[in-house]
Amino acid sequence: MTDERRFRIGVLGSGKGSNFVAIADACAAGTVAAEVALVVSDVAEAGILARARERSIPARFIPPGKFRTRLDEDAERAYVAALQTAEVDLVVLAGFMRVLKDGFLRAFAGSIVNIHPSLLPSFPGLAAWQQALAHGVRVTGCTVHFVDAGVDSGPIIGQQTVPVLDDDTPETLHQRIQAAEHALYPQCV
Ligand code: GRF
Repeated sequence: MTDERRFRIGVLGSGKGSNFVAIADACAAGTVAAEVALVVSDVAEAGILARARERSIPARFIPPGKFRTRLDEDAERAYVAALQTAEVDLVVLAGFMRVLKDGFLRAFAGSIVNIHPSLLPSFPGLAAWQQALAHGVRVTGCTVHFVDAGVDSGPIIGQQTVPVLDDDTPETLHQRIQAAEHALYPQCV
């Protein structure tokens, strides 16, 4: 036993939480030298909260406030306070469907990362795998990057390529990209 403080991760997500699971499992297995200290969602019934609670990881729904694509001021303060109280060293966005604004970015400057289902800077924004299919690219993938004030911009930390197959549907391509995400994100963290 050691009482050395471990590196603490806070995860924000709005969806099913498969990337959170990959990171939490890597922490539990010791391949990532960290612990997930807190999971926060803007969706009360999000799978990511259930997956966290199954693992006895603190998980909170914090209402996002009055806007659709970002946190309002009170919500931003509540998110920052929750993550600071949990003493997180790194904020990991795992399918968090809101753009983070100045107050949040300043509170965790240089310590926020995101994963996106394309080889950025190609196909930022929503449904990147559909954009890849629509453009007919033969190779796509996923990208982990630091978060700045833009949408899916910020310095790139790591990427993994994924082939696009002739008979791919949006669903099969998305699944192949997600499998790559689950390998890439823990490595980058
Ligand atoms: C991932 O595909 C990620 O690239 C995008 O949102 C999705 C989250 O999936 N930003 P999950 O909730 O981790 O399963």
